[in-house]
Amino acid sequence: MTSRIALITGGTGGIGTAIVRRLAAAGHQVASNYRDAAKAELWQKRMRDEGIPVTLAQGDVSDPQSCQKMVQTIKDQLGPISILVNNAGITRDSTFHKMKYADWSEVMRTNLDSCFNVTRCLIEDMREHRWGRIVQISSINGQKGQYGQANYAAAKAGMHGFTISLAQENARYGITVNTVSPGYVGTDMVMSIPESVRAKIVEKIPMGRLGEPEEIAYAVNFFTGEEAAWITGANLSANGGHYMGW
Ligand code: CAA
Repeated sequence: MTSRIALITGGTGGIGTAIVRRLAAAGHQVASNYRDAAKAELWQKRMRDEGIPVTLAQGDVSDPQSCQKMVQTIKDQLGPISILVNNAGITRDSTFHKMKYADWSEVMRTNLDSCFNVTRCLIEDMREHRWGRIVQISSINGQKGQYGQANYAAAKAGMHGFTISLAQENARYGITVNTVSPGYVGTDMVMSIPESVRAKIVEKIPMGRLGEPEEIAYAVNFFTGEEAAWITGANLSANGGHYMGW
């Protein structure tokens, strides 16, 4: 297989770390952004102890200028990025009638504007090299909606709209663009939902359990492979059967 340079935004988080591990195991050189230097350095050490020499670049995905610097830093160290996983995301859950503008806009900027900010900085390199893999990490809640998540569901649904447009524009340049829509995975984000609310959610999952971060990384790795060259504009659900719409 060909070793590529892969950027996983939010790589230090629960699902992000699993994607970093999986793409590194597939032989790629992996990089991630960070915002909190102290936390990121500890994480980088952990990855290095596991034998994964991950490259880190400071960058706030909600800020276009910060993304330009971040992508340039990675390019200077490793070379042009040919696999991008737009994974960074946050929640600011609240029923809509109580939602503050800040809760709306922080989620839109971090989860959706980030797709523009990061992808725009490297799409020209991918087009020039006539090879690229872009994967958006959306959510089951972008597909089905969720009580308390008007902001998050709107941003996550928007990510797949972004996917299917980019997929059309870039298909002839050897670039595939796909979405993975995870269900409820046992990360800090999901574990911070009140226990009683979370228990009711788990009851609705046919598999009867939360997902593992590795189960999402498996789906991401599938889209990034050489053999996935004819799969573009797809939205792959990995949710334990929680939502089966198509
Ligand atoms: N359907 C119908 N009613 C619901 C409901 C639902 N799914 N969830 C809560 N309610 C009801 C409650 O029973 C309660 O009713 P009563 O007042 O009659 O008792 C009422 O709504 C509470 O409404 P409030 O506006 O007062 O809500 P709150 O401020 O207490 O909290 C909330 C609301 C923050 C949204 C809380 O319900 C919550 O955290 N829900 C979980 C949201 C969620 O799933 N987030 C996912 C985070 S993980 C993630 O996003 C990863 C991913 O991609 C899957």
